[in-house]
Amino acid sequence: NSLSISPTTAIQSPLQIFVRAKKRINDIYGEVEQYVSDSCKFLSALPKDSDLITNEELVVVNSHVEKVKGIREVLSRDHMKVAFFGRTSNGKSTVINSMLRERILPSGIGHTTNCFIQVEKSENDESYLISEDSMERKNVKSVSQLAHSLCTGSLGDSALVRVYWPTDKCPLLRDDVVLVDSPGIDVSPNLDSWIDRHCLDADVFVLVANSESTLMLTEKNFFFKVSARLSKPNVFVLNNRWDASASEPEYLEEVRRQHMLRTVDFLVDELKVCGTRSEAEQRVFFVSAKEVLQARTNEFKGLPLNTGIVTDGFHGRYFEFQDFERKFEECISKSAVRTKFDQHTKRGKAVVGDARNVMEVLLERTSAKRAAKSQSRREVLDHLDFTEKQLQLVTVEMKDKICKMVEEVEHKVSKALND
Ligand code: GTP
Ligand code: MG
Repeated sequence: NSLSISPTTAIQSPLQIFVRAKKRINDIYGEVEQYVSDSCKFLSALPKDSDLITNEELVVVNSHVEKVKGIREVLSRDHMKVAFFGRTSNGKSTVINSMLRERILPSGIGHTTNCFIQVEKSENDESYLISEDSMERKNVKSVSQLAHSLCTGSLGDSALVRVYWPTDKCPLLRDDVVLVDSPGIDVSPNLDSWIDRHCLDADVFVLVANSESTLMLTEKNFFFKVSARLSKPNVFVLNNRWDASASEPEYLEEVRRQHMLRTVDFLVDELKVCGTRSEAEQRVFFVSAKEVLQARTNEFKGLPLNTGIVTDGFHGRYFEFQDFERKFEECISKSAVRTKFDQHTKRGKAVVGDARNVMEVLLERTSAKRAAKSQSRREVLDHLDFTEKQLQLVTVEMKDKICKMVEEVEHKVSKALND
C-alpha cells in the first residue's frame, strides 16, 4: 500500500543535531564577541600613563575582535557536505535528485555530468548557478536549461559549478546539507586534483555502485586515494539499479549476498574505514534511485507513489532508500558537528582564555598599586602623628620657659622698684 510509506520529513530529522549545534555555537560566539568588544573598550579607556596595561597586551585583545568576527563569518557558512562518486551512468545524479525530491541535476544515459556540481540552498528563493570561470549569476529555471549551461561552459572536469536551489521542496537543503555531484571516476585522469579540490572538507562520501555488475577497481582505487588523504572517511555504498534484480528473482538473494560480502570486505579489510563487519553492513544499501525519484515526483503532484506497473520488490527498495537516508543523516550530522565545531570551540576557548589572562594581570597590577598607595598613606599619617606630638612637647617647654622669664622679669622689676 503506497499510502503507508511516510516521507522522511514526517519524522524529526537527525540533521537537527547539526542545525541545533550550529545555532547554539552561534549564540555562544555572539556572547564571546560582546565580551571581547567590552574588554577592548574598557582597556582602551584606561589612562595611557597608568602603567596598568602594556601595548602588547592591548594588541592581543584588539586582535581578538577581528578573529571572532572571522570565525562568526565561517560559522554562518558552515554546512554538511556529502560528495557522490562512482562510475559513469551508475546513477549518481539520479540518487542526488531522489534525495532532493526533485529533478534538479541533469541525468541520462551516456556520460552526462562533466564537471563538479554543488547543490546548496538559495537564500532568496531563486534558482541560479555560479560557475568558477565567471562570478556571474545565471538564472536556472529548468533541468534542461541547467544541462545547457553546463555544456556550453568551457570548464574542465575538476571545475565546480554551484547551483543554488530554493528549499521549499528540499528539506535537506533547508537543513544546511550541500550535495556534490561528480563526473564518472572512470572517465577522468584528474582524480588527485578532484580529491584536493572537492573532497578534503566532505563529511560523508557516497559511492554509487552498479548492482548489475560489481565494485570495480577504479572505484576502489579512488577511495584508497581518498582515505590516504583523510583519516577514516565516512563512506556509504549504494548498490543502485537494484530494480534490475526483479527480472532475475531466482538469483536475487545470491547476488545480494555476493555484493554485500565484497563491499563489506572492501570497507573493513581493504579500506579499513569500518571496524567491524556488522558496522560495515549498516553502510551498504540496495536501492533504485530511479524508482524513488519517480515515486517522489508523483507524491509531490499528489499522485500515488507508483502510477505505472509496480516492479516486484519496489516497496522494499523504497524503504531501503529511506533507511539509507536516515543513517546517512545521522552520520553526516554527527560527523559535521565534530569536525566543524570542535575547531571553533577550541579557538573560542583560546580567545576567551587570552582576554581573561590580560584582565587578571590588570587586576593584579591594580591591587598592587592600591596596596602601595595605602602603604604610603599610612607612612604620611605616622609622620603627622609624630610632628603633632613634637609640637605638643615644644609647646609645653615654651610655656615653662616663658613662665620662668616672666617670673624673672617680675622679680627684677620689683627689686628695681624696691631699690
Ligand atoms: P554520469 O553523470 O554520466 O557520470 O552518470 P550518473 O552516474 O550521474 O548517472 P545518471 O544519474 O545520469 O543515470 C544514468 C541513467 O541511468 C539514467 O538514464 C537514469 O535514468 C538511469 N538510472 C539511474 N538510476 C537507476 C536505477 O536505479 N534503475 C534504473 N533502471 N535506471 C537508473
Ligand atoms: Mg551524472
